[in-house]
Amino acid sequence: MIRHLLSGADLDAATATQILDTAAEMATVAGREVKKLPALRGRTVVNLFYEDSTRTRISFEAAAKRLSADVINFSAKGSSVAKGESLKDTALTLQAMGADAVVVRHPASGAPHRLANWVDGSVVNAGDGTHEHPTQALLDAYTMRSRLGRLAGLHVAIVGDVLHSRVARSNVLLLSTLGAKVTLVGPPTLIPVDIAAALAPGTDVCYDLDAVLPGVDVVMMLRVQRERMNDSYFPSAREYARRYGLDAPRMRRLPEHAIVMHPGPMNRGMEITPEVADSPRSTIVEQVANGVSVRMAVLYLLLGGNNR
Ligand code: ASP
Ligand code: CP
Repeated sequence: MIRHLLSGADLDAATATQILDTAAEMATVAGREVKKLPALRGRTVVNLFYEDSTRTRISFEAAAKRLSADVINFSAKGSSVAKGESLKDTALTLQAMGADAVVVRHPASGAPHRLANWVDGSVVNAGDGTHEHPTQALLDAYTMRSRLGRLAGLHVAIVGDVLHSRVARSNVLLLSTLGAKVTLVGPPTLIPVDIAAALAPGTDVCYDLDAVLPGVDVVMMLRVQRERMNDSYFPSAREYARRYGLDAPRMRRLPEHAIVMHPGPMNRGMEITPEVADSPRSTIVEQVANGVSVRMAVLYLLLGGNNR
C-alpha cells in the first residue's frame, strides 16, 4: 500500500480497486446499529483544514471515528495560523502531538506534497488549490461502479469549470487508470489548453454539451468556482446556464441508464437545475454517503489496518 494519498496518479489500478473493494466492506458498517470498528484504536488522525469544507471535513471525521481512531480537528480560522504561523511549524506541532495521519485541505496547490516531507505519518490530500482532490475521485468512482456495475469501458463527461477544478483533474487521472473514457466539456475559456493530453492521453475535449450527452453513461457537473475567478470567463450566469447548465430537457438527451453526478456544493440554477439535482438519476446524496465508506477505506489501508 502507498504511504500518502496526494494525487489520483498515486493509484495504480490494483491499489484503486483495493480501496473501492475495501470501501464496499466498510459500507456494511454504516448499515449496522453500532457503526464502529476497532481497526484504528489508539491511532490519531488530524484534520487540517485551511479552506472551507462541509462534506470532506465531516466525512473524514466520521470515517476516522467509525474506525475508532482519535480525531483532532484543526481549522485555520481560530488557530495560531491567524498569528502568522507557517504550514511547516503547524505540521511540526501536529507531529509532536503524535499524528498518524494528517488529512489536509489547503488553498495552495502542492501544499500536501510539502507537508508529506515534514511529518512522519501519512498525508491525505483533501483538496489543494486547483490541483487535486483524490478521495473525491475515489468516491465518484465508487458511486459509478455501484450504480452501473463497472468502470472499464464507461464514457464519462465532466462538464463546466474544468480550469479551476481539482475534482476534474483527479477524476481524469483515476478514471483513465480504471479504464473509463473521459470527455471534458465546457466553454473554451474554462478548459486549459493541452489539459487532456497532459493528464491522460485518450481524454477528449468538446465544447458542445448537447452533442456529447446522448453517448455518455455518466455526466458529472462541476461547480462554477467564482471564488477562484478574477476574470470574466463567460458573458453572464444566464448565458453559462443556457449553454452548459444541465436542465430537464437536456437530461432527456442522456441514455436511459445514465446517471448525473455533482461533487457539491452546487450552484442550483447555474450548472444544474433543482429539478435535475433532485431527480432519481442524480447520485449527489449517494456520493456524500459513499464518501464516508471510501475515506474509511483510505484511512484503514494507509494506516496499515490490513496488516496489523
Ligand atoms: N467541493 C469540491 C472541492 O472542494 C468541489 C467544489 O468546491 O466545487 O473541490
Ligand atoms: N465535494 C467537496 O469536496 O465538498 P466540500 O468542499 O464541502 O468538502
